[in-house]
Amino acid sequence: MRKLPAIKVKQPAAVDCVVGKPENHESVFKHVKGQAIYIDDQLEMSNQLHAAVGISQIAHGRIKKLDLTAVYKAEGVIAVVTAKDVPGQLDIGPVFHGDKLLAKDIVEYYGQPLFAVAACSHQQAWQAVKLAQIEYEPIPPILEVWHALEQKSFIRPSHVMQRGNATLAINDAPHQITGQINIGGQEHFYLEGQIAYAIPSEDEGVLVYSSSQHPSEIQKVVAEVLNIPFSLVTVEVRRLGGGFGGKESQAAPWACLAALLARVTRQPVKLRLNRHDDMEMTGKRHRFVNSYRIGFDDSGRILGAEFTLNANCGYSPDLSDAVVDRAMFHVDNAYYLDQVKIVGNRCKTNLASNTAFRGFGSPQGMITMEAAIDDIARYLGKDPLVIRKINFYDSKSTHRNITPYYQVVEQNILPTLINQLEQSSDYQWRRIQLRKFNVENKILKKGLSLTPVKFGISFNVKHLNQAGALIHIYTDGSIHLNHGGTEMGQGLLTKVAQIVAEEFKVDSSNVYISATRTDKVPNTSATAASSGTDLNGKAAQNAAKIIKKRLIEFAYQYFSVNKNEIEFVDNYLKVGSRLILFAELIQLAYVNRVSLSATGYYRTPKIYYDREKSAGRPFFYFANGAAVSEVIVDCLTGEYKVLRVDILHDVGRSINPAIDIGQIEGGFVQGMGWLTSEELVWNDQGQLLTTGPATYKIPTVGDMPIDFRVQLFADVPNPENTIYHSKAVGEPPLMLAISVWTAIRDAISSLANYSISPRLDTPATPERVLQAIEQQCTASEVGL
Ligand code: MTE
Ligand code: HPA
Ligand code: MOS
Repeated sequence: MRKLPAIKVKQPAAVDCVVGKPENHESVFKHVKGQAIYIDDQLEMSNQLHAAVGISQIAHGRIKKLDLTAVYKAEGVIAVVTAKDVPGQLDIGPVFHGDKLLAKDIVEYYGQPLFAVAACSHQQAWQAVKLAQIEYEPIPPILEVWHALEQKSFIRPSHVMQRGNATLAINDAPHQITGQINIGGQEHFYLEGQIAYAIPSEDEGVLVYSSSQHPSEIQKVVAEVLNIPFSLVTVEVRRLGGGFGGKESQAAPWACLAALLARVTRQPVKLRLNRHDDMEMTGKRHRFVNSYRIGFDDSGRILGAEFTLNANCGYSPDLSDAVVDRAMFHVDNAYYLDQVKIVGNRCKTNLASNTAFRGFGSPQGMITMEAAIDDIARYLGKDPLVIRKINFYDSKSTHRNITPYYQVVEQNILPTLINQLEQSSDYQWRRIQLRKFNVENKILKKGLSLTPVKFGISFNVKHLNQAGALIHIYTDGSIHLNHGGTEMGQGLLTKVAQIVAEEFKVDSSNVYISATRTDKVPNTSATAASSGTDLNGKAAQNAAKIIKKRLIEFAYQYFSVNKNEIEFVDNYLKVGSRLILFAELIQLAYVNRVSLSATGYYRTPKIYYDREKSAGRPFFYFANGAAVSEVIVDCLTGEYKVLRVDILHDVGRSINPAIDIGQIEGGFVQGMGWLTSEELVWNDQGQLLTTGPATYKIPTVGDMPIDFRVQLFADVPNPENTIYHSKAVGEPPLMLAISVWTAIRDAISSLANYSISPRLDTPATPERVLQAIEQQCTASEVGL
């Protein structure tokens, strides 16, 4: 046996797991102190240029004249580019063609980029673009779904998912209901707007800093626009000031324009959209107009269901095909639909191209089902919770656990979770109290509702479900971690650092989280579909395991001990009875020529899907949750307040409960904003009128539920082999907010003694609520 090096011998404290601890977000203090560097905070170069974008001022038309003479001549302007100046590919569509970097000949929405300018200052650039002389030959725009359906204007073919014969089952059922719901869109309102910063490098290459959820996509489109190999483009993303899906595909144009102007001027170019322009130019959550027809029995059990989902996709495909598919995948929400037909139409309109937004179509699918469930309850005069329970997936049944796309709901925890929440929220007792309150009060009415969420985890495009990571350990024992995921506030980098720290049993402060870069980890997927930790956490763990195996192998030979005598514990390596500091182990390994760098890779197992047949297992597993919301509505004004919200949410075994709870609270409030106060308004010419916080109302602290109780569903690890048996958390909680909308509907319904299900389109602004109240009163007066 070799002589051991001089080591400090200290008994380690009890092994303290890093995974599962509510550690702070890695940037928490930097965020608060303003020390977290976003792209616009980066140091500027002495020859720095600033870009601005000239846009279409009509929704649809031919460009007759684009005279940029005055723009060229404006103070500080260095370069102006149009579609003609693009050396490579003009189309930057993420999946299908249709997104031209700059419009050529024809414009298809108000706000579409036509040209871009680089000037010496941000102000000069944005002043200059206003000087363009543009003439159009207008073409009547299509703005609404009904119009697109009438004109058969689609950006992608419609798709149908069905099982059995829904029409027959509905017709044969004892009862039928039909309904329609207009679902509003949503502006992402990330606090940091779209921004990119391009620095030319050697050989016509470029380094791009982008506020993007998808660095590899930025690399690809920049290379294609500039007509250079992907390898000459490097994209770096340290953090985003929020993405919420709005920077999955739509961070790309700004990066491409900055890179194009950097190529033309050979100077660094930064392009930052002002809030107004950002709102006007970029896509939002899809508005939907959905209809349903349901057949059910006396108990409220659904026997047949037909849904038509019509999405307002805007002018190009962008990600809409996958968004509408996801809406279709989530119409069932938590309920078994025996005979079912789901049609998804992708309507093409002359609006900004709608895009990913937390939930990715699922919320619009789910709320339609929840609306229908409430309608059934009113029809039968029962509490909606009873109807929900009767229709839940049932794992004890041989067939009532199969989704409309033939995926088996293997882990069916919602019935248990909901029973627990029903108890902990005092649902039944509060229901009685509330009915009493509503009888006693003429003006103020309370509403209560419990809604579940079952959300499929995995990208619904199979090949996107893969990830890579890169770990270096330096000779002082510090660990440098890189992976394909981007940090947008959701705590991904914190969680993955915890996972790596856990592997080596070191403190997570020993793991340095660096920016995401395409030259460190290649060919990555967007950080999206809530799967950032699932994918990158596993990839990073795999990289760590590779190095760990080398270290164990080394220690085993070096110290001539049995492998089972080697163990990583609390910043040490334990070799028999000896303890070696992790840093000293690394130094020793280095001197003995052990490689201390490794890549890791992961791909999600088990998933497959045949879209032709609408059958397979598109999701690795489901994340679940439920919320009980209580509201109070003023029937004279339509104003309301959320009094109390109880949430019980399933994250499997949590990697970081503090971050998970933050995601649940944030997701819920964002969903509440979508369904209540956030209203997008366009004029009849397709111009967005709500282009800032003065007119577009995101939730504020005053809108928070007065009593907000969030709990993780404890002790139920993910049965699938996910990272530490955790579950994804990013998107699912947004849909818990559907309970606020159903609670408002419940309050309105009390006006007609719960016999009528009011129509309530979203967002349920006080105006819409008042309208529904008036309709309810008229309907009950005439005895409907
Ligand atoms: N949380 C914050 N703070 N900021 C964000 O932009 N985006 C959401 C969610 N939570 C977002 C967020 C969306 S749309 C997704 S898909 C996931 O985070 C992505 O990150 P994850 O996969 O690491 O959860
Ligand atoms: N979510 C987000 N982005 C995606 C998805 C998804 O399900 N599928 C393809 N891109
Ligand atoms: Mo999230 S909508 O998948 O970026």
